[in-house]
Amino acid sequence: MNDGYESALRAAAAVLRRSLHPVALTGAGLSAESGIPTYRGPDGIWSKFGEPTIDGWDLFCEDPEAWWKHAIEHRVGGSAFSEAIDAAVPNPGHYAMADLEHMGRLAHVITQNIDNLQQVAGSRHITEIHGNRAKVRCMSCGLRQRLESVNLDILPPSCPECGGVQKNDTVMFGEPIPKDALDECYRQAFLADVFLTVGTSAVVYPAAEFPVMAKRRGVPLIEINPEETALSDIADIVVRAPSGIAVPRLVELLLIP
Ligand code: APR
Repeated sequence: MNDGYESALRAAAAVLRRSLHPVALTGAGLSAESGIPTYRGPDGIWSKFGEPTIDGWDLFCEDPEAWWKHAIEHRVGGSAFSEAIDAAVPNPGHYAMADLEHMGRLAHVITQNIDNLQQVAGSRHITEIHGNRAKVRCMSCGLRQRLESVNLDILPPSCPECGGVQKNDTVMFGEPIPKDALDECYRQAFLADVFLTVGTSAVVYPAAEFPVMAKRRGVPLIEINPEETALSDIADIVVRAPSGIAVPRLVELLLIP
């Protein structure tokens, strides 16, 4: 690792020590070291296989039963991506993000990841802006339930609260971001007095807007990513390193009295 990495992390630790409400935006890069491919970049799944069609949401709304039938038929032996998520476990980056929270050095995480790994690693104050693959969500009342607790004998599954149609909680292309999640993301972007981006290319909106909003308020922006991103030019501190190495080192530095 270049020295710039260590001095950048020491600068990040100094900023976090003074912070009362640090917020982070995480992306696929945080789960890369758990064997889940990212979306963009040379080995990204979108780069290799193309982005999904934009009509996924329309197709679901047109015929939720058919959508569920298709999803269940293709669950096993589906894509390499879904198999990678099924097999994945949290890496040191996920655990270190949870440690930052438990140490009181991270107030909230906005994650773009649908893989549930930060939650498994112990993160509690987290908003899943793109949903969670292990949950379903009611299209009427917004109630979320764990997928494994849903009876899939009758399709489409219906909400135990209001009887509404349930869909996988993952936000599809073309689907609006659920209001409760979006409201919480904006609230956190306003509360943040330090903003970290970890493992995201920061090209997808509205998620990429939150660090920019904070930066516009004069809040320090810390980027942890081995590669340049769309926000590198406006970041105050850039840590060019994998999150599985950088975030645990940040925890170590913050543990030094
Ligand atoms: N540690 C930290 N960052 C990494 C690592 C690593 N080990 N490996 C790769 N990265 C970085 C890449 O350099 C890249 O900037 O992670 C980023 C991944 O970018 P994307 O693939 O664009 O993923 P993300 O930013 O999460 O995408 C946002 O786009 O397609 C949608 O819904 C999808 O949530 C996703 C959203």
